Amino acid sequence: MSEIKYPEMYPLGLKKIEWVKRFMPVLAELGRRYGEEKPLSGFRVSMCIHLEAKTAYLALLLKELGADVRVTGSNPLSTKDEICAALAHLGLEVNAWFGTTPDEYHAHLKKTLEFCPHIILDDGGDFVEMLTSEYPEYAKDLLGGCEETTTGIHRLRMREKNGTLRFPMINVNDANCKHLFDNRHGTGQSVWDAVMYSTNNMITGKTVVVAGYGFCSSGIANRAKGLGANVIVTEVNPYRALEAAMDGFRVMQMDDAAPLGDIFICATGCNDVITKRHFEVMKDDVMLANAGHFDVEINKDELRAISTEQYESKPFIETYVMKDGRRIHLLADGRLVNIVAGNGHPAEIMDMSFALQTLCILHIAKHGKDMENKLYQVTDEIDRDVAMIKIAAMGLGLDTLSDEQKEYLGY
Ligand code: NAI
Repeated sequence: MSEIKYPEMYPLGLKKIEWVKRFMPVLAELGRRYGEEKPLSGFRVSMCIHLEAKTAYLALLLKELGADVRVTGSNPLSTKDEICAALAHLGLEVNAWFGTTPDEYHAHLKKTLEFCPHIILDDGGDFVEMLTSEYPEYAKDLLGGCEETTTGIHRLRMREKNGTLRFPMINVNDANCKHLFDNRHGTGQSVWDAVMYSTNNMITGKTVVVAGYGFCSSGIANRAKGLGANVIVTEVNPYRALEAAMDGFRVMQMDDAAPLGDIFICATGCNDVITKRHFEVMKDDVMLANAGHFDVEINKDELRAISTEQYESKPFIETYVMKDGRRIHLLADGRLVNIVAGNGHPAEIMDMSFALQTLCILHIAKHGKDMENKLYQVTDEIDRDVAMIKIAAMGLGLDTLSDEQKEYLGY
């Protein structure tokens, strides 16, 4: 039995799923390729992922390939209730709703794992954490899983290092067809969609401070530049700081950027990037947002502690009043702004990320028994397969090397 809030919302959810399907040709191709064979028959798959229309299509595809699928959300504010309703209506077990308390969030993940999955799809590492530290009994049939995002990969690497990775996991995030497009272009576009929609503010002419110049943050910085903002980048990695400088951005420490910015966006995966000493010197009416996986980049406790008043200005904007009367506006409660206050990445981008997920899940179903308890990279064969289907779907022309050229290049 699903645990959802508004089952009656399913018609809207179905419409939204039908819409994204039109823009996800790689998933459609995988459906055609494997739909009859049903290679996931007999496999139980648990998914913990931002529950919106694109992920719903992935869940439905896995079901179409034969899997028994259960889904839950990977963040308390990224779940769309109409999508949960649609998936439940279509016969999947869904345990999620928008705005879960920490206890509800935990209960939903637990329930989604209770049927002892053969394969997990994790986004940020909460499933792995639960299966390792709290309910190892639910991992008794587990062949392995896939991790979607950079923060989840950090957590898996730590487990590998300290010897607590108890099952094989595949690093989907680092495949070419994932981070080069999803992290950079998906986050780049959707963060600004969400900021513009929720604030209704102008971006051009503003000073935007982007924390980080990694895959997500460089996408955010470059999109801001395209929108006419003056962009400042802060970094801790010297190479990425240089890259940002040579891409035309001002690079400085957050301490120096704090009094200059009108809009601040973090996407580092690191905690305490913006803290009390920064809030104290910020301008009146600054906007703060986070696109990193967890709500730890902007220190909300310190913001709350130094404010004299706090109120909701608009949906997804919480305003904190400082002692001197300045107002600091926090978007999406410091959680992934692009998914909480917006529609998330474009469907065309998630098409590739979720095609990788599908092919990796098929790989685990086939080879999981022979895999070791370590973090695997996506094979070049799978990565290229997704790229080639996407190229065909986009109607792009791709040159090929002749035998002579291959010889010249030493391939
Ligand atoms: P990345 O490793 O490519 O980039 C992170 C960058 O932040 C690095 O260059 C690093 O040096 C820098 N950094 C780390 N600590 C810093 C600090 N204190 N101050 C300034 N810079 C700092 O990682 P990626 O792929 O860009 O992911 C970043 C975060 O975004 C992760 O939490 C990831 O899970 C999340 N993510 C969010 C998405 C979304 O839809 N909002 C999509 C994909 C990833």
